[in-house]
Order: sequence, then structure tokens, then C-alpha cells
Amino acid sequence: MHAGKMRSAFLMAASALALTAMTGVAAAKDVTLRLTAKEVALPVDNKGTTQLSWTYEGQMPGPVLRVTEGDRVTIVLTNDKNNKNSHSIDLHAARVDVLSEFESVKPGESKTFSFVTTYPGAFYYHCGSDPMYQHIARGMFGVILVDPKDPKALPKADREYVLVQSEIYNNPDDTHSIMKSDWKHVVFNGVAFKYDPVHDPAATKTLVAKPGERVRVYFVNAGPNEVSSFHPIAGIWDAVYPSGNPKNKMNGMQSFLVGPGDATTFDLISPAPGANVIVDHVMPHAHSGAMAVIMFSDDADPKMGRGDNILVR
Ligand code: CU
Ligand code: CU
Repeated sequence: MHAGKMRSAFLMAASALALTAMTGVAAAKDVTLRLTAKEVALPVDNKGTTQLSWTYEGQMPGPVLRVTEGDRVTIVLTNDKNNKNSHSIDLHAARVDVLSEFESVKPGESKTFSFVTTYPGAFYYHCGSDPMYQHIARGMFGVILVDPKDPKALPKADREYVLVQSEIYNNPDDTHSIMKSDWKHVVFNGVAFKYDPVHDPAATKTLVAKPGERVRVYFVNAGPNEVSSFHPIAGIWDAVYPSGNPKNKMNGMQSFLVGPGDATTFDLISPAPGANVIVDHVMPHAHSGAMAVIMFSDDADPKMGRGDNILVR
């Protein structure tokens, strides 16, 4: 390279760095995310009743993927050779060609594709292989968070939780029952009443926070069929951001409809110690499993809702 050109390239790189330091705006990165599709038995209630699930990484929901707006994301999807079905990944955070990037991968094969994240927010990802409603009903879904490149775009959260709503079917081999939406439970994070010892004494966990803390809930409705009227019993959403985009801010909301295939970010602050119950206010959904207790107390476990523990397993 010509010395003058090299010098100006260096100056440009240096000024980009200086800009990052001055504004706090994150510089774009290359991020590679590897996921393996696994067909495994997983519990669907607190008693431990299991069901053959189709998953990413053997978990329902799959791993929380987290990147920053502007990042170039490379997805490497492997379909485990022991699986019986083809699988794929459809990320709502990507703008690509459905026929190429989101195509199905056979057992024992892999697929790699890339995209640049252009909108910040909370986005749904799921398997799109045929029949898509069955792959979703069996558990092939998760959340990809695209944090805004400007960290001041949202007020700082003291704790963060991921809740993914979905339906559990008695016999997910019966595709007809899924098309008729003849579900048995509507659940958060794969298990009926997972965080609700009030309605199910077999539950062992609740979500936690301290009074006054800003609790951010990233909520995805995986469906495949039912809408969610997302409400904190005995609380009010301080802020609601449809699709998790900071520009979509609503204030002081009681319930907010999130359809299947959609996501919304909710901020909750409790002024006093006590409990709220986060529910899908559609009553058959709540009372079949879509309720989660959040306990507000001054001695709340500092590790919950932070770091790798925002989707409580
Ligand atoms: Cu699948
Ligand atoms: Cu989708």
C-alpha cells in the first residue's frame, strides 16, 4: 500500500476507535454462533412427565443468543446424526433469503450462513422445517437478543429474564391436534408452572429481584398458535417495547398482546417487597401453566437474572 494511503487508512481506523471511546457506541464485531439440533426427551411439567422434544442443544427453549446491533453474525447449524428428522433455523433478526439461508439440513449435515443485525431488539428464532407448527410445538425455538449499539438507548436494567411462551400438546405426533390447537398446557420456558409454587406445589423456583430494581423481561411467544395477553398481576409494566426496539417505547401498560411469532421487551419495577405473578391473562392459558411468580425482596439472590442466568433453567 502507498505510504500516504496507509497513513490515511490508519487515521480513519484511529478516529473510529476515538469515536467509540467518546460516544460509548459499540463497534461492530464478527460473531459465530454454533447450534446443534437434538431430538431428546424433556420434562414438560414439574412432576417430570417427559415428552420427545425436538430442540436446539437439547434445551427447550434453546440457548439465548446475544449479539449487538451492527454485528455480522455467522450461524453454523448442525443436525445431529442420531436425529430422525431434517431441521433448520429461522431467525427473526435476520434479513436473508428464506429459500437459501433458512433451508432444511438433513441428519448428519451442517449449514453455515451469515447476516448483519440491522435492528436492535428481542427476536424469535425457530425451526422452519415442514411441518413448521409441529417442529415448534415440539420445542424447536429460542431467543436472539440484539442489544442496541448505543448502550444508553435503554435505561440500564438491574436484572434481565427471558420468558418464552409455548403450547404443550398431549401427543405431538398427532399433527391434526396441533392444527386444531388442542393443547394440554400453555407454558413459560418449556414447563407448566415452572416458576409458580403457588399454583403447583411441585414447582421449586421463582424469579427474583429487589424492590426498586428495574427488571427487564424479554418475552417471546413461540406459539405455535395462541396469542398472549402479557400481564404482571399486582404490577404495571413501567415500559413496553414491541419487538424490543428502544424506539417503540410505551409507558405504564397493564397488559400487552403478543401474537405467536412475536416478541416484546417489558420493564417492571416493584416499589415494595412482595410478589407479582407474570401471566398470560388469557385464563385457560394462565391456569394450564402460563404463570410465573416474581418475588421482590431485599435479599434476592444476586446471581439470578444476570449474566448467563437470564433464562432460568
Ligand atoms: Cu426442526
Ligand atoms: Cu418465524
